[in-house]
Amino acid sequence: MIKILVVHGPNLNMLGRREPGVYGVETLDQINVRIEAKATELEMEVRLFQSNIEGEIVGAVQSAVGWAQGIVINPGAYTHYSIAIRDAIAATGLPAVEVHLSNVHAREKFRRRSMTAPVVTGQIVGFGGDGYVLALDALKRIIERES
Ligand code: DQA
Repeated sequence: MIKILVVHGPNLNMLGRREPGVYGVETLDQINVRIEAKATELEMEVRLFQSNIEGEIVGAVQSAVGWAQGIVINPGAYTHYSIAIRDAIAATGLPAVEVHLSNVHAREKFRRRSMTAPVVTGQIVGFGGDGYVLALDALKRIIERES
């Protein structure tokens, strides 16, 4: 069975309450239920992780090595400046999809820069919680094509 690590970065534990006009009213728990349902449909196993701490996210990404065949990651604000998370993703050598609930390109200029974009397979932005579901579909295709 294909195994996927899903990483939610800082402040995503506040979804539902946090700027609902930007991020929607879905909570992280509700999004995680949808991710697990999609994983079951695709016959994938997912490990779900959330942290507000950069080093913990680095550790979680490193832990994918030897367990997961792919990574879905929304690094939150760390996207825009964390070289450590970027390096961790690159170090795994695994296919990865960067997800953002909001369309980061339609917001403040600083959100257009992603430190992680160059080391992931691709990005899915602006589709709310659906982005994670789409990311699982994308990874399944990539992993099956490569194997
Ligand atoms: C986000 C976009 C980031 O700019 C922001 O800091 C977040 C959430 C998104 O999912 O749209 O925390 O990653």
